[in-house]
Amino acid sequence: MKKKLKRIALALPVLFLLLQLTNPARTNPPVKRDFIVAANPPAEVAATIRAACYDCHSHETQWPIYSRIAPSSWLVVADVNDGREHFNFSDWPEDSTRAAKKLDRVNEVLDYKEMPPKKYTALHPEARLTDVQRKAVMDWTEAAADKLRNSTNN
Ligand code: HEC
Repeated sequence: MKKKLKRIALALPVLFLLLQLTNPARTNPPVKRDFIVAANPPAEVAATIRAACYDCHSHETQWPIYSRIAPSSWLVVADVNDGREHFNFSDWPEDSTRAAKKLDRVNEVLDYKEMPPKKYTALHPEARLTDVQRKAVMDWTEAAADKLRNSTNN
């Protein structure tokens, strides 16, 4: 019995090291058209979105240490890839109608408190939004979307 336990104890670190060969790639591709540069929101709105959304929805992800270590690396990389695919602040549309629709979606997920995900804010307290921050972003996205729509109607 003791011998068996010892063998398992010896095998575990080896398994852990082998697991590290499965770490998925963490990429930060070049930014195509940054939302903050293109849409020029007020500084506090920009700061809130950068802190709460950019890790999963931009090409400027700050990869935490646990994104480098399997098995947590699988979850983090999958989340970022999924997030970028659905919504990407580093590929902001030039077209006003499309940009306005994107702003609507930001407004929506904040309204329903869907984003940032709770599993993320649990580990990133700096990304937790206060009601004041959420309202500031929502007021601005609404006004900016209206402005874009009006500009295309002229
Ligand atoms: C932990 C990573 C993570 C963070 C942080 C995060 N998101 Fe997401 N977001 C995702 C993932 C993954 C999806 C796609 C799956 C889903 O809808 O849950 C998503 C979906 C979305 C969608 C829906 C896209 C669609 O298909 O309609 C929007 C809009 C969005 N996020 C905006 C935001 C905003 C705004 C913030 C910051 C306030 C934010 N997200 C923070 C991971 C994240």
